[in-house]
Amino acid sequence: MPDTGLKTMDRRPLMEAVVQYKLDTVAQSLVAEGKGILAADESTGTIKKRFDAIKLESSEESRRAYRDLLFTTADVETYISGVILYDETIRQSASDRTPFTQILSKKGIVPGIKVDQGAKNLAGFPGEKVTEGLDGLREQLKQYRDLGARFTKWRAVITIGEGIPSRTCIHANAHALARFAALSQEAGLVPIVEPEVLMDGDHDIQRCAEVTEATLQAVFTGLHAHGVVLEGSLLKPNMIISGKACREQASASEVAEATVRSLMRSVPSAVPGIVFLSGGQTPEQATENLNEMNAMGRHPWELSFSYGRALQEPVIRTWMGKPANVPAAQQSFYHRAKCNGAARSGTYTRELEAEAA
Ligand code: 13P
Repeated sequence: MPDTGLKTMDRRPLMEAVVQYKLDTVAQSLVAEGKGILAADESTGTIKKRFDAIKLESSEESRRAYRDLLFTTADVETYISGVILYDETIRQSASDRTPFTQILSKKGIVPGIKVDQGAKNLAGFPGEKVTEGLDGLREQLKQYRDLGARFTKWRAVITIGEGIPSRTCIHANAHALARFAALSQEAGLVPIVEPEVLMDGDHDIQRCAEVTEATLQAVFTGLHAHGVVLEGSLLKPNMIISGKACREQASASEVAEATVRSLMRSVPSAVPGIVFLSGGQTPEQATENLNEMNAMGRHPWELSFSYGRALQEPVIRTWMGKPANVPAAQQSFYHRAKCNGAARSGTYTRELEAEAA
């Protein structure tokens, strides 16, 4: 018999890994009622930018002290289900020498890890990026699991502009996301698949919807082709919003309706949860938009958050790198987490927002 090369793929190996490591249960716990994820996985370059804004030198110790502040915030586990760490951070410890992964696990917070190596220029496609980091990833994932990680994240970046994004850029990124997700499940880790359509530009909300839908459809085609088990994964997309420089900014209810509509068209209901990135929205906007979506009623997936800037901006500004400000900064982190926790059930209010003061 000649080999036609068209054999159906064997989906059992990843299915078996999902069952063995209970990846569906881990994914569900990350989107548990009233809780969401803190993205604290800024690379050394990105955290330096955040520290520059408060005129604080970025050193291994200042980065450690800052993450210590976040992770030791009392009772934050009421609203935080998981934390995404960076390679340096997953190896660091709190001031009392307890490894951060243990500090988190003891609170019932699931430690995760960013595993991509960043978005690099896509050769031949000016203005477009492709995320790198697949080489050697299998060995790295094994190490991260041994260090305590139970989930992973990979971020792809899609830019809207004159004549972009190209199909090539969308497909190159979708392919990398699918390979990352399959490798993660094989290693016993829940992949958070993050295709971010940037809000930079003067495009309107419809253009954001069109590009996001095309991107998500390519991503799920890729995940299916690589045998990724959706029940053991999470999606981390952008919301459908107006470009930052667009003259007409959509309201929270318009954002909520457009986002749910695009997701309904593109995301299979086997995915247990969708954890949005904040992507440059203000902390209040990010909370309000999520709240509006959950106030619409039940959806096929949990709608939650995996915010970086929207959870941390006020915290860094309160901290300013000064030990004396740690209690106030922790209070501000707790408050932001509580507001977003309320947004998980559509019960966030102005009164709750004002409680901070
Ligand atoms: P932002 O919420 O600041 O967009 O960060 C989330 C994240 O993890 C980006 O990869």
